[in-house]
Amino acid sequence: MAIKKAEQPGSDKTKYAIEASQVGKSYGDLRAVDRLDLSIPEAQFFGLLGPNGSGKTTTLHMLSTLIRPTEGTLSVAGYDVVKSPVSVRRAIGLVFQESALDRNLTVDENLRFVGALYNLPEHVVRERSQELLELFDLTTRRHARVGTLSGGLRRTLDIARGVLHRPRVLLLDEPTIGLDVINRRTIWRFIERLRQEENMTVLLTTHYLEEAEGCDQVAFIRKGNLIGQGKPKMLIQSLGAYILEIESEAPDRHAELLNPTLGTPVQEGNRLMFCVPNEDFPVAELQRELKSAVHALHLRRPDLNDVYIWLNRQKPRTRR
Ligand SMILES: Nc1ncnc2c1ncn2[C@@H]1O[C@H](COP(=O)(O)OP(=O)(O)O)[C@@H](O)[C@H]1O
Ligand SMILES: [Mg+2]
Repeated sequence: MAIKKAEQPGSDKTKYAIEASQVGKSYGDLRAVDRLDLSIPEAQFFGLLGPNGSGKTTTLHMLSTLIRPTEGTLSVAGYDVVKSPVSVRRAIGLVFQESALDRNLTVDENLRFVGALYNLPEHVVRERSQELLELFDLTTRRHARVGTLSGGLRRTLDIARGVLHRPRVLLLDEPTIGLDVINRRTIWRFIERLRQEENMTVLLTTHYLEEAEGCDQVAFIRKGNLIGQGKPKMLIQSLGAYILEIESEAPDRHAELLNPTLGTPVQEGNRLMFCVPNEDFPVAELQRELKSAVHALHLRRPDLNDVYIWLNRQKPRTRR
């Protein structure tokens, strides 16, 4: 990670909401999370990205003290998850893949219930609920039973529920999974609003990589290993100006043909993907040259999915 920790006391020390040092979780021979290092500054919006089974939920479960790491150290809001689990729990808000709402209760009742769980005074719960319902456009539904809400609204309410006690760190596990594109966008917009209002650190996981472009920083994991990290824009820019996709009956021949100008492509069956380094690249010329020889030729802007694909070309870390 680019941010360096200042060691000297009294200096401008960056405060980290989450710090993981060589954190691992093994189930028998399986390393669900493999020596993960993370330093997430306070108030950052951080995306932990990776496909199904890559270790995202396991990481969040360790951060929320639900399971213990089998190696390394992990702290949240300055508290060690093993030594001070109660302080960690107090500092975090959790929204897991499974909804924590009672479907038979109304929106209001669900929020009041959380307030009681956290021992918040009634007037605080009332004010906070009001604010959150407005923030999330839920005010008109406050007396509706949760079971009658759409999937998108329920997820929204789950997030409101997770932040009612004003946690310093909010952990969201795939908040947009199973939602349609419109609801997914809405959820992202609400998370953004919430961040602006509350200034809290948000750690979110998703396997819809293209969604995470609004994060301040993202980390990619694969089979429990950290394989890349950075600001989304920088990571995308580092690939180049465009991705050129070619479908060809003779992909090997075309890969060889274009290699001198565009480097080694990523190959998936008959499809080749090249990074086009800059805007000035003579794409039209290339298109004319290749048009008759290939099935399809497509030029598009790179996104975080491409970053992941290119990161995957690198060799996995070898075990010590
Ligand atoms: N309790 C468990 N026992 C055994 N294996 C587990 C357990 N929990 C998770 N795993 C395995 O750990 C890996 C990472 O899982 P998970 O963290 O759920 O991934 P993700 O959330 O990225 O989809 C997977 O291979 C999963 O099968
Ligand atoms: Mg998961």
